[in-house]
Amino acid sequence: MAQRTLSFVSVWRNTAVIILLLLASVIGASRLVAAGGEKPVYRDYSAVFAAPAPEAQTKAEADAKSAGCITCHSASDALTMHKSPAVVLGCTDCHGGNAKVGLSDPSIKMDSKPYMAVLEKAHVLPRLPNSWHWPSSANPQRSYSLLNQESPEFIRFTNPSDYRVARESCGACHLSVIEAAERSLMATGAMLWGGASYNNGLVKLKNYALGEAYTRDGKPAKIVSPGEPHGTVTPEQAKRGAIAVMYPLPSWHVIPPGDIFRVFERGGRNIQTLFAEVGLPNPTGSIQRLEEPGRPDLKQSSRGPA
Ligand code: HEC
Ligand code: HEC
Ligand code: HEC
Repeated sequence: MAQRTLSFVSVWRNTAVIILLLLASVIGASRLVAAGGEKPVYRDYSAVFAAPAPEAQTKAEADAKSAGCITCHSASDALTMHKSPAVVLGCTDCHGGNAKVGLSDPSIKMDSKPYMAVLEKAHVLPRLPNSWHWPSSANPQRSYSLLNQESPEFIRFTNPSDYRVARESCGACHLSVIEAAERSLMATGAMLWGGASYNNGLVKLKNYALGEAYTRDGKPAKIVSPGEPHGTVTPEQAKRGAIAVMYPLPSWHVIPPGDIFRVFERGGRNIQTLFAEVGLPNPTGSIQRLEEPGRPDLKQSSRGPA
């Protein structure tokens, strides 16, 4: 399978370019406290560590990596998530976790103390258990930025196909697909960020330059095209609209302007002639008008860093 070199570059190298590109801006260090203010729990992942899924292995090797898991996860339509018997994988090849521990006695009731003790040992535990509502595996309503604050080990456990970790779970067999998919519009959201930022006068580039991508540890990443050299496109590709480089979304910390990214917000109620403030009650008590998501009547907000 064709393999291209890794095309992610840490955001710090982009900073200089972004500053030139977009006024005086500094990319902020990623926040260390989760959205709900939860402080990360220290986790020792050595017992649940799993090497990247191998391209080939024996059936016995693979079965050993599922042994403990299937004492609880008993029924499944495809143990390897692939119908084809040609794909030989164990659970921990993709998810990580400790397959050496399992239920010794099938009469142990689900959710009982001894059951949960085994589960805790077998599973990869999150660093932000409250934000994920651990031990429930139901996804939180919005896991968006939470994903960037969680450990890659837990991300791999809960979703082995997340691009932050897909190289480990799927890369041995699907690397070229992963690399192409990471650059796709569906992953970068370039059309949303490009359209909204150009149309609202935040960025003067009509050819999109902003797109989302993240490194394994949740840092914003720059994506470059797979051209020769990387980060270039041929004139023919450029004609078709291929883009050479996408930068992460910048944040403004040097000069605090009004909240120019307000246009992306979810809408809310307007307080007459004041700048619309999501979630603040109307001080005059009069009935507020609803504002549609993404279409603020007033583009800026009075909010911003003090
Ligand atoms: C003691 C029983 C038990 C063992 C052993 C066990 N699991 Fe689980 N697992 C569960 C239960 C129960 C849930 C659902 C928890 C809930 O939603 O309340 C779960 C949930 C999960 C989830 C979803 C977690 C999330 O937060 O999204 C994954 C993935 C998973 N298990 C994989 C594994 C793998 C891989 C192994 C082996 C390394 C394993 N499990 C071993 C009982 C077990
Ligand atoms: C080829 C890699 C691969 C293998 C092998 C694999 N899984 Fe998964 N598993 C995935 C992916 C990808 C998902 C989807 C995650 C998502 O949608 O967020 C998933 C989903 C799950 C979920 C639901 C997770 C959730 O968040 O609700 C459970 C539970 C689970 N797998 C358990 C297992 C068990 C047990 C085994 C071994 C018998 C296994 N998986 C083998 C890749 C794999
Ligand atoms: C050991 C090698 C291997 C690993 C690791 C692996 N796959 Fe696969 N995958 C295959 C093979 C081989 C096929 C083709 C199977 C067939 O044709 O029936 C396939 C097919 C697929 C398909 C179906 C594609 C299609 O065209 O229908 C999807 C989706 C997929 N894999 C997703 C994943 C994901 C997501 C992961 C990682 C979480 C993963 N695979 C890990 C070998 C692997």
